[in-house]
Amino acid sequence: MKILVIGSGAREHAIVWKLLQDPCVEEIFVAPGNAGTAGIASNLPISITDIPALVNAARQNKVAFTFVGPEIPLAAGIVDQFQFAGLPIFGPTRAASRIEASKVFSKDLMHKYKIPTASSRAFSSFEAASKYINTLEAPIVIKADGLAAGKGVVIAQTAEEALMALKSMMQDKEFGASGEQVVIEEYLTGREMSVFAFTDGYSISSPVTACDYKRVFDANQGPNTGGMGSFSPPEFYNDELGERAMREVMRPTIKALDAEASRYSGVLYGGLMLTPDGLKTIEFNCRLGDPETQVIMPRLETSLADISLAVIERRLEKLNIKWSQEPCAGVVMASGGYPGHYETGLPVSGLGDLDKDVVVFHAGTKLDTNGDVVTAGGRVLTVAAKGESLVQARQKVYNNISRISFKGAHYRKDIALY
Ligand code: AMP
Ligand code: GLY
Repeated sequence: MKILVIGSGAREHAIVWKLLQDPCVEEIFVAPGNAGTAGIASNLPISITDIPALVNAARQNKVAFTFVGPEIPLAAGIVDQFQFAGLPIFGPTRAASRIEASKVFSKDLMHKYKIPTASSRAFSSFEAASKYINTLEAPIVIKADGLAAGKGVVIAQTAEEALMALKSMMQDKEFGASGEQVVIEEYLTGREMSVFAFTDGYSISSPVTACDYKRVFDANQGPNTGGMGSFSPPEFYNDELGERAMREVMRPTIKALDAEASRYSGVLYGGLMLTPDGLKTIEFNCRLGDPETQVIMPRLETSLADISLAVIERRLEKLNIKWSQEPCAGVVMASGGYPGHYETGLPVSGLGDLDKDVVVFHAGTKLDTNGDVVTAGGRVLTVAAKGESLVQARQKVYNNISRISFKGAHYRKDIALY
């Protein structure tokens, strides 16, 4: 079969890499892809937001189904438009994607169906929100309602800081329409984990979990990024915790979406925190995580093509999804200066000198006119490896990542240490 994958990050490279392990998969098209996907699949120069062109590409290339990586096309209704065109596609509809695309929707759903989360209030008036802030004790958590590329959450340490964040979201329109409404919520503390489960809207697979590192520097210093590394499973994870996450959060959420006429299909990503008061939902995402996908795909033992088709055809219940017991670690190599200003077009060397049991998933890379790999983005690649233990997995990653180089390259040295 042929498949179309949408996106251009290391998450999508990992998805393509995993799909290709199934001998039934003959060819994969990636829109738009990167230098890594160019080596194993056919890149198509189509933007992730050009839905009519993606529909045409799926039709012309006669793909069995399309797999959507990022949230932007999902929130824009790519699934609805593919379904309207009679084309099979993996991912939630526009209405179901609101679980990520609108924090107001997602918090209302959680409160209505008693899914554990931080207490919160939503505001569409700057004046009312400011008044409310003056009644709270810091830290104060402020979230822009809509998609904001991971930058829409501010944890303010003082009321002044909270008011400044509120002003930039609601009055200065830092995130455009995404900041027209805000959620102000209780500050929670505890260990965080990302929980992923496949669902066809009726049945839901057992979960796989990972931790990610959002800050750019070691010891969680510096600004937030798209993610600097990940490992799976978390060292504090056990089957009982997984079952609790399913019972308290994941299954009730799928049921709640169904009850609200927004049946969810695809992969549900719960960002959960283990607080002193129990498990709480920090957020939901309507897709796989990045960089978590780079460490969970190497642990997936079932064909991703089989899982995708079972989800699309609503027969997930009959499929037994297996995960390797071996832990996996992944470290992101980024451009110097990221998440601020950085140079691109820098040659990447050493990619051919790596051990066989280590994988490199490309993100911001492209091929130059000589066919050599050069940098083309902030997060350039993820190096991942499984091991008998997490210690061994991280050692493999760090032994190999030091062989890859480009001018100004930066990576964290403490991924999977805590
Ligand atoms: P989000 O974009 O919702 O994932 O938020 C980004 C990060 O902000 C999360 O991964 C948490 O580390 C932190 N965060 C979000 N909400 C809260 C909260 N209510 N209490 C404490 N930390 C939070
Ligand atoms: N790992 C964070 C995200 O994918 O949103």
